[in-house]
Amino acid sequence: MVAHQIPVHHFVALVGDWRGFGSDYSALAERIRLLVIDGRIKAGARLPSERVMAEHLGISRTTINAAMSDLRSSGFVRSRQGSGTVIELPGRTGDLPIPDAGDILDLSRATSAAVPGVHAAALRAVARLPARLMTDGYELAGLPALRAMLAERYSSTGIVTTEENILVTTGSASAISLIARTLLAPGDRVVVETPGYPHSNDAFRSVGARLLPTVVDGDSGWDSEEFAAVVERAHPTLAYLMPDFHNPTSRSMSHIARSAFVDLAARHGVMIVSDETTADLDIDRAGPTRPLATYDLRGNTVISVGSASKTMWGGLRVGWIRASTTIINRLLAARFSFDLGAAVVEQLIATELMEHFDEVIEHRRELHRRSRDALAGALARHLPSAHLHRVDGGVAAWIRFDEPISSALTVAARSRGLLIGAGPWFGLSGEFERNIRIPITATPESIERAVMILAESMVDTTRPAAPRAHALL
Ligand SMILES: Cc1ncc(COP(=O)(O)O)c(C=O)c1O
Repeated sequence: MVAHQIPVHHFVALVGDWRGFGSDYSALAERIRLLVIDGRIKAGARLPSERVMAEHLGISRTTINAAMSDLRSSGFVRSRQGSGTVIELPGRTGDLPIPDAGDILDLSRATSAAVPGVHAAALRAVARLPARLMTDGYELAGLPALRAMLAERYSSTGIVTTEENILVTTGSASAISLIARTLLAPGDRVVVETPGYPHSNDAFRSVGARLLPTVVDGDSGWDSEEFAAVVERAHPTLAYLMPDFHNPTSRSMSHIARSAFVDLAARHGVMIVSDETTADLDIDRAGPTRPLATYDLRGNTVISVGSASKTMWGGLRVGWIRASTTIINRLLAARFSFDLGAAVVEQLIATELMEHFDEVIEHRRELHRRSRDALAGALARHLPSAHLHRVDGGVAAWIRFDEPISSALTVAARSRGLLIGAGPWFGLSGEFERNIRIPITATPESIERAVMILAESMVDTTRPAAPRAHALL
């Protein structure tokens, strides 16, 4: 396979302000490792040549050479005469260098343990299984009972929905991949939020789409004028939005923005994928909101995506798509070369849990409320320089610092055993160096420990002051 060459300007933007304490070569190697670990540089990508990197980073070839040997010995690059330096992932996760760390605290994912009741639901589901064993088990669109329940839930929010509008997938991640594969062609433009959810961006990139940013501000949320300008200028095929408890900022779209986005998209023939994976995770949001699809009067603009992962359990791998029957039929046709359907047993478990969905959500609400409050307390006690945007639901808090220290802070935290998402991971080209994401899906104890580690790590983000010139008085 031909390795993808990272353009040097993109490489320079990605490494950003990489210098830290210690030697330049190890700081650069550490920054590149972070970029590989959090997925901003993919395995298989080829780095610019050592000469070009040295020139553009303003450092010597010897330093670059030392950084590359450091990366080579930790398994992050391989170099071959004539084919340059190619990024690799070390064989096992255990190989990732986390110096001197005891227990690893992984807050790089905004995920949590199952709600109580999943085990009991699984037992009930298995008891129902014999009836299904008479069929061949291939349910391309999903189990009718689950689709009917999902359709009823959508209808109760004002989106008229029948089973024909629902397709059950293996989590919302595969829903988004299936949509990208089916509805996009190479070169199509897709508007995505920045910051946004990196794995969806990757799904769109993987089918050759070009991503165009629309900003979600941690305080003020979406900007409909900016969205209108992008749509009018670039004629995108699709816009991918998270209108409820956006990941990572946790903001929700106002009624006015929802109406403006859908109206504009409908007028310009842009499909909107509304990722509602986190939409049920309300803690104490003020006022009611309506799903994006309720603004879609003709019913052919918004494709809603949902999931059981964040409410019930990620291990169920059950998600779904709600769309017009025309879109659902296109997705069904494409599914024959995709995955032929979601696992029946897991759909049976999700169906059981859907019957008690209000309790499931109430349970999550309480857990997230406690973690959210623990985070606010821990930041006030240990890390007062961090600004916390209001979090009224969702999976994470988007923390802001006054200085651009995110990558340095996450590298320093990693050496103390904390894995956490650096701000730039959620951007498209190295922005958000003033932010990090702290999941509120973690327990209050883990959050307290994480914030203490971040507070300790702050010392590694401030460079020693440059020696001052003596004043000649
Ligand atoms: C916004 C968003 N979309 C999609 C996903 C993928 O979820 P699933 O586990 O349903 O595939 C996640 C998971 O973190 C998410 O936060």
